[in-house]
Amino acid sequence: MEFKPIRNNDVDSWKEVNLIYNSALKEITTKLEILNDEFQHIHRYNPIEHIKSRLKSPESIVKKLKKHGRESTIENMVEYINDIAGVRIICSFTSDIYRIAEMLRNQNDIKVLSIKDYIKTPKPSGYKSYHMIVSIPIFLSDRVADTKVEIQIRTVAMDFWASLEHKINYKFEGNAPDSIKRELVECSKMVSDLDERMLSLNEEVTKYKEKELEAKEA
Ligand code: GTP
Ligand code: MG
Repeated sequence: MEFKPIRNNDVDSWKEVNLIYNSALKEITTKLEILNDEFQHIHRYNPIEHIKSRLKSPESIVKKLKKHGRESTIENMVEYINDIAGVRIICSFTSDIYRIAEMLRNQNDIKVLSIKDYIKTPKPSGYKSYHMIVSIPIFLSDRVADTKVEIQIRTVAMDFWASLEHKINYKFEGNAPDSIKRELVECSKMVSDLDERMLSLNEEVTKYKEKELEAKEA
């Protein structure tokens, strides 16, 4: 069942919506922490560097609804806004991103509603990241509310690029000069190159360590 606020009073509904989306953030964050701990236990390695989560501010929700030509109602925000609850996962390597996405997909209670792979196909701005919109059940005292969460998974390098690009766009209110946009696209290529080289380097080191271990055991 998709989440529907049940109280008549608007303030109460708003508080209830907040509680449910906040619970969804906790659920996803805990799942990720468990997966990371298990991965560390088995492979002696953490695929997740860190996790950030946030609830979209009421101002941003109203702005987005307006942009889509929708009235600011709680029903509309629940139906049309997918990123009220947002989780960002930062990894060391591109391979970790797909590993984590797969592990999330395999959880029985998570339903994947959509995927956008801006790593395989970066945005024209140069933006790279792996996006999933998922739905997760939140168990309340009298019902279960399926709640949407936007999950963004990216490397440290992609995150560095995205935060700078976001700051620049904010300063120029989305109309940055062409020279700056071109430079950002160039930097994004360097991010891809760095990610690839760091991944190969890490694979090389892993193989080297494995050989060393085999030699010791022989
Ligand atoms: P929004 O309406 O912006 O949420 O986009 P969308 O519904 O088309 O989804 P999309 O997957 O393209 O973007 C979702 C989120 O990804 C955004 O809210 C940003 O947080 C992030 N994002 C997307 N494109 C860019 C970009 O070019 N630069 C940066 N810094 N972040 C981006
Ligand atoms: Mg967004």
